[in-house]
Amino acid sequence: MIAIQNVTKYFKKNHLRKDETDTRFQVLDNITFTIQDGEFVSFIGPSGCGKSTLLRMIAGLLPADGGRVLVDGQKVKGPGSDRMMVFQDYVLFPWMNVRKNISAGLKIRGENKESVDKKTDWAIGLVGLEGFEQVYPHQLSGGMKQRVAIARAIVMNPDILLMDEPFGALDSFTRINLQEELIRLWEKNHYTTCLVTHDCDEAVYLSDRIVVFTSSPARVQDIISVDLPRPRDRNRSEFIDLRNHILQLGRIQAEQQERQERCL
Ligand SMILES: Nc1ncnc2c1ncn2[C@@H]1O[C@H](COP(=O)(O)OP(=O)(O)O)[C@@H](O)[C@H]1O
Ligand SMILES: [Mg+2]
Repeated sequence: MIAIQNVTKYFKKNHLRKDETDTRFQVLDNITFTIQDGEFVSFIGPSGCGKSTLLRMIAGLLPADGGRVLVDGQKVKGPGSDRMMVFQDYVLFPWMNVRKNISAGLKIRGENKESVDKKTDWAIGLVGLEGFEQVYPHQLSGGMKQRVAIARAIVMNPDILLMDEPFGALDSFTRINLQEELIRLWEKNHYTTCLVTHDCDEAVYLSDRIVVFTSSPARVQDIISVDLPRPRDRNRSEFIDLRNHILQLGRIQAEQQERQERCL
């Protein structure tokens, strides 16, 4: 279980107005919620509200200024291979082929060749990259690169999969294909999954629950359960109603954020 308890976070301001004395601005304001083992939870909210910051805290890449993040009752103190992250911009090693990109983490962990080969084959099969093992990242489409990034995360057999707008840079056809693949993968392996997205359709299609954040500083505005059977039908009226409801919540927050920015 992931427990986020009263988490607050500040960053240093880049620019200070003449009359300003506070050198920090608040990004997260008293965030509290839990994510159950095997649950698929999405974070949605206006751009810049602090979603990635919270995800990076769960990954152990950033400390909290107040409150704490617990994984299975233990305070997160740094990154660990129980929590793997997938980013929007793939971050693959350009000098390594697909196979080497996927197996790099296992090798760093010191696993023997037989185990590395077996797990790498398994991950390649799961994301449909057979036949592309020797190809280099620059030869791949965005969708294929993201398959490599997902395979590289799941090959480590993490308990928790953290995804930061993983499909944000893809065209809508590829995005839908990868969403379908991701949910099939999750149904097989039940990784506890946190997905940052700004796409309401994606959030409703994938998630058990959706955490809706307010504009900056982020607070939890609402937590919405999606009780629709999978695979989900995007044309079903309940799907459309839920998507529109979240879209409306987001629009109000985005408007508020714009107003704040205009006042700065
Ligand atoms: N390392 C950092 N130092 C200073 N400001 C940051 C840093 N990371 C993010 N920010 C700022 O914090 C706010 C929240 O960022 P982020 O969590 O990336 O938002 P989101 O993912 O919701 O779009 C933004 O204003 C962003 O510019
Ligand atoms: Mg972000």
